[in-house]
Amino acid sequence: MSKENLIKGLNEDLAAELGTVIRYNYQSGKSFGLTGKELREMFAAEITDELGHASFLTDVIIDLGGEPVTTPKDFDKPVNLKEMLELDLKMEEDDVKNYLLHSKDAEDLGYTELKMKLEEMAADEAGHARELRRLLKGL
Ligand SMILES: [Fe+2]
Ligand SMILES: [Fe+2]
Repeated sequence: MSKENLIKGLNEDLAAELGTVIRYNYQSGKSFGLTGKELREMFAAEITDELGHASFLTDVIIDLGGEPVTTPKDFDKPVNLKEMLELDLKMEEDDVKNYLLHSKDAEDLGYTELKMKLEEMAADEAGHARELRRLLKGL
């Protein structure tokens, strides 16, 4: 594991976070009815978390000597609410995996604060996944 590979991985995480902010904003606008009302509240709360993650990653990438990406990762746009939340659940679970992977890389390179922060972000995403599973049970 090299610092360059860690920066590459963190940039993939950053593109995913930027994509999530845009996806949740988009999905919030497409959430209708009573279930949609609850979804809009959840998206609003989670967008704040994801923006915090994106901001942290941007600062870390620059601190490591890299150039942070500004292009979000693209995403599918299912119309059906259930399919929309299933997509979000999968993407949150992917984020958990990627943060744990990159926290291991950070540990190997001796970046203790980064390792711990990435683990914390993995926990945030796992919390988002749990919330999505709870909403999916009602659909
Ligand atoms: Fe996030
Ligand atoms: Fe998340």
